[in-house]
Order: sequence, then structure tokens, then C-alpha cells
Amino acid sequence: MDDPVRLTRRTVLAGAAATVAVASLTRETSAASGTRAPSANAVSTAGPFVLPALPYPANALEPQISSRTLGFHHGKHHKAYVDNANALVAGTPLAAKAPEEIVRLAARGEGPADLFDNAAQAWNHSFYWRSMKPKGGGEPTGALLELVQRDFGSTDDLRKQLVQAGASQFGSGWAWLVFDDGKLKVTKTPNAETPLTGAATPLLTVDVWEHAYYLDYQNRRKDYLQAWVERVVDWEFARANLPAAAKGGGK
Ligand SMILES: [Fe+2]
Repeated sequence: MDDPVRLTRRTVLAGAAATVAVASLTRETSAASGTRAPSANAVSTAGPFVLPALPYPANALEPQISSRTLGFHHGKHHKAYVDNANALVAGTPLAAKAPEEIVRLAARGEGPADLFDNAAQAWNHSFYWRSMKPKGGGEPTGALLELVQRDFGSTDDLRKQLVQAGASQFGSGWAWLVFDDGKLKVTKTPNAETPLTGAATPLLTVDVWEHAYYLDYQNRRKDYLQAWVERVVDWEFARANLPAAAKGGGK
């Protein structure tokens, strides 16, 4: 599993915006050594990247994802990426740009070496929280259902592809449902990589870094993915992300 304290320390060593980074390190070290679970309502607003409040209580996805997993994942891992990304752009022209633009610019080599990983992970996690909901799962509706039937055959086939993509991602990464070149597709990306840097429109994502499931499922990543596609996924979020041209479904 990655280590938010180590990541933050690396940021300090990178030398950029050292004052902000030191403050970030202090907060993270303090949080990591505390005994209280991180707050699900923690919000960081010290730069272009924001740690959003979770869109549901931390225990709302149980039993598929425990409040302990969600608390650490959001309050420590995601927070570290947000703090690191903000520290890395502080005092630079990038600080005035939107998070999505920073991710795209960093992918092209702008900013410090660590920027892409932290900025993309900050964005990917915000997208992941919204890709889930309590009592999720079931069937997509409307235009998304029509596209799923046209491009996968059935929701069950889509679920199988998402599970397969996440289970077969070697090491850390993400599985995605995207709209690309007029079609729904399932893709996977390693580490912090994100469809945001390419032509495809991301519709939803599932995190397959070990920190997303290890407390609850240990090495059984496939079980986490199966539970995710059956009980947690928010198809409405995916439908809302369809490009305007795709909202008519497969007609
Ligand atoms: Fe994660």
C-alpha cells in the first residue's frame, strides 16, 4: 500500500514550495499518529485541488466497503495527494489553473516531476467517490442502458469486463468505463494514469490500488470488484457524464 506520510516527505525533499509542504507534512504526520479515524467531512482548500467531503457517510457503503477503509482512503490517502499537488503548484502559474488542466499539463511534462502522480491521483479519487453510492448496483437507465446493450450486449457483460479489467491490472491502478470514439469501452490504467489525458470521456472508475480494498478483502481483489459492480457502482453518475452527443443512447 502507498504511504501518505512518505509521499508528503518526498514532496518536501522535492524543494518546491517548501513552506507549504512542511505544513502539509506536519498535518499528515500528526494525523497518521493519531488514534481517531479521519473525518469524512475533512475539506482542504489551500490550492486548486480540494479534498471534497464524501458524498455519503463513511459507513454508508458497508458491508461492501467498510468505514475503516473509506476513512483511511479518503482522509489520509486522498488528502495526501491533494496536499502534495497543491504544494507542488503553489507559487507557480499552474496554481491558477483548474485541476483537470493541471493534470493534462503535468502529463506533458509541465511542473515538478511528482506533479502528475499527485494531481492525477487527487482528480481520480474525487471521481471515484462519485462513482459509488449506497445501495448502488442494479441496472443503468435511459441512454446509458441503451449504449450498454448496444456496446456490451448486457449490463452483466459490462460488469464482467469491469471486473476483468480491474483484476488484471498488474499492480496499482484503475478500471474505467469511458465513452471513446462513439462507443462505451472498459479500460484500465496503471498507477495514477487517467483517461483525462486522452480523447476518451471518463464515465466512472473503480480504484484497484490495494489501499482501496486490502483492509476488507486482503488479496481478494476480484471479490472487491465483484461486490463493487453488483452493490456499489453508481450508474446514474456514469449516465450524467455521457457527452451530450451520446445522451440519445444507441439510437
Ligand atoms: Fe485510492
